[in-house]
Amino acid sequence: LITDVRLREVLDSRGNPTVEADVLTESGGFGRAAAPSGASTGEYEAIEREPSAAIAAARKHAVPRLVGEAFAGNQREVDGILRAADGTEDFSEIGANSAVAISMAAAKAGADVLGAPLFQHLGGTFRGQNFPVPLGNVIGGGEHAADATDIQEFLSAPVGAPSVADAVFANAAVHATVSELLHERDVPAGKGDEGAWAPSIDDAEAFEIVEEAVSTVEAEVGFEIRFGLDVAAAEMYDDESETYEYSDTSRDTDQQIAYIADLVEEYELVYVEDPLDENDYEAFATLTEEVGDQTLVCGDDLFVTNTERLAHGIDRGAANSILIKPNQIGTLTDAFDAIELARENGYESIVSHRSGETEDTTIAHLAVATDVPFIKTGAVGGERTAKLNELIRIADDAT
Ligand code: PGA
Ligand code: ZN
Repeated sequence: LITDVRLREVLDSRGNPTVEADVLTESGGFGRAAAPSGASTGEYEAIEREPSAAIAAARKHAVPRLVGEAFAGNQREVDGILRAADGTEDFSEIGANSAVAISMAAAKAGADVLGAPLFQHLGGTFRGQNFPVPLGNVIGGGEHAADATDIQEFLSAPVGAPSVADAVFANAAVHATVSELLHERDVPAGKGDEGAWAPSIDDAEAFEIVEEAVSTVEAEVGFEIRFGLDVAAAEMYDDESETYEYSDTSRDTDQQIAYIADLVEEYELVYVEDPLDENDYEAFATLTEEVGDQTLVCGDDLFVTNTERLAHGIDRGAANSILIKPNQIGTLTDAFDAIELARENGYESIVSHRSGETEDTTIAHLAVATDVPFIKTGAVGGERTAKLNELIRIADDAT
């Protein structure tokens, strides 16, 4: 039984305050988790409230309903109470940030009571033995860095890595090689919010550099490395003109579809996230029809980890995969339900960090527990390596 829920503000990787939760149980179980935070957030995400307001509201509405009432190990019960206590569709009362921190902390306390690692508590004993391939953000811009690429993320994908550790090190090597190639071209570069290089170059040059970096590292490590993109196209889309606004050009929807399809062909992309606007299921469907057998067309801002939006997309053939971010929807139960619905309909799931992160490692466990093919959690930087190193430890424990 939960005996206490403590909430506080801690720092995230952008230097902003975020919500951290501790859940304590009668039998001495303890779990702690912190909410991440997006910058290129989807229009239909659950609501992140200002942390002090989210904490005050959660203390008032949710904590009294949990303490002495719910079992930390019963995730559906805990998350159901969070929903009922909030009373809105989008967690605008207690904040998705309070909700997700409590939900994840309860899961950890539940695992602690059982003496099981979190991935095992979440996945059960029949979970798969496969480990997710980490997608490493190596160059990026968009909302994550000023004066950098239009495409938000260029993602290294070490699909042939024999182990999760090999994959993690391969992505770090691609990241380092990108830096060397930028030096050779005399292009200075700082880093964006997720640790990717954020040079002031156009997308065409970024493609050249990433392609070269990937093949250089591929030759060194001897296994296949491909790459993918998060276009975050909703951030470029202009509702008035109905065009995608790039630094050097603008594309209407048909041109955007053709452009992305060409990129998939030319670079043999394994993954393309949010290639189109978050309201345009139809354009997503057209692109998926065209390239869906060659690449994962993934909805992030499109689906926002929401089963209703996913069901709508499945009906229309709008993608073939979904990005899973627990804080977009507010609870682990909702995130699990989205993964289940995806799986039942032949969609893949990709578990993801946010651009604002903490040292929290829950998503590493979630990705292993649900047996997803990819996890997107950066390549370097402490709040990213927290998850990557946790994956290495989990693999070490489990094999
Ligand atoms: P965000 O970006 O965390 O800033 O929303 C990540 C993404 O778009 O995948
Ligand atoms: Zn995205």
